[in-house]
Amino acid sequence: MSPFQLTRTLAEDAMDAELRSDVLHGLTRTPKELPPKWFYDARGSDLFEEITRLPEYYPTRAEREILIARAEEIAAATGARTLVELGSGSSEKTRHLLDALLPGLEVYVPVDVSESALKSAGDALLAERPSLRVHALVADFTRGLELPPTAGPRLVAFLGGTIGNLLPDERREFLRAVRRMLAPGDALLLGTDLVKDEGTLVAAYDDAAGVTAAFNKNVLAVVDRELGADADPDDFDHVALWDREHEWIEMRLRARHALAVKIRELDLVVPFEAGEELRTEVSAKFRREGVRTELAKAGLTLSRWWTDEAGRFALSLATVERGAGGVG
Ligand code: SAH
Ligand code: AVI
Repeated sequence: MSPFQLTRTLAEDAMDAELRSDVLHGLTRTPKELPPKWFYDARGSDLFEEITRLPEYYPTRAEREILIARAEEIAAATGARTLVELGSGSSEKTRHLLDALLPGLEVYVPVDVSESALKSAGDALLAERPSLRVHALVADFTRGLELPPTAGPRLVAFLGGTIGNLLPDERREFLRAVRRMLAPGDALLLGTDLVKDEGTLVAAYDDAAGVTAAFNKNVLAVVDRELGADADPDDFDHVALWDREHEWIEMRLRARHALAVKIRELDLVVPFEAGEELRTEVSAKFRREGVRTELAKAGLTLSRWWTDEAGRFALSLATVERGAGGVG
């Protein structure tokens, strides 16, 4: 059997229908918004990788530091034979976990909406680890994931702080769905960025080189290409602000002047007033107690909590509550 298998659970026409629906609903409501998953076409995935190398964007370095320090401990605690990773992107940090889990690991299941990211990650991992089996899934982790029937114990990893890109209700549903994927003895490894001073947070989302601005504007390029729209990225400013009440960063695109975007495929014209903003992403920041409570509400127990030396980012290991039933 080939060591690399890729399964598309998202038919292209279903993705297209979802983009149409998200754009139609998101751009005809007030305030305007789009879900962040549409950033990640091939260019968006590349831009995100560039973000992870920026001096201002600390989360990737902080999480890598924790993974390097704790990978052996995670491997010993979980004994995982299957590693499922949601929103795996380049799987770059995951190699520390994979190396600690091998040779007991039977299969790595990276899950992402970005097929280009899955393919290049699979190629890179297998070039270095020919004994690894990779079964990649092109799937949306917010929509009833069907995982391949692989050996337990399973470790489900959700790294990078991507859980913060879900709104609170979406997070609740998501964690419940993850709980349903887990049997007793399985575990969730969750990366969360932590609340910290506003200056550090805003700089991480508004870098001096303008890479995050380009990433934010990439959603317009996706809508233009996929739906025949004429949004001009130069008509919008990148905005990153800290919402103290919700403890999340918001990324927005602000219209530089009054304008109208024509979306041919939807037969729609979307007016923007001068200064009007379109919310493209929230990135929630967490505290230990909040993570513990959210996990508990989904039936998961926070069993380990690790941070980097500077206390910027946390990795949590969560397990199914004792006495709880299996997958159901
Ligand atoms: N885990 C990596 C990548 C984080 S970027 C890291 O820590 O660096 C977020 C990743 O999640 C991207 O690769 C993006 O394509 C993917 N993603 C975003 N929304 C998704 C969704 N709804 N379903 C599946 N993948 C998603
Ligand atoms: C993927 N996710 C955790 C990133 C974040 O920090 O919220 C996406 C991102 N947005 C802007 N910069 C990076």
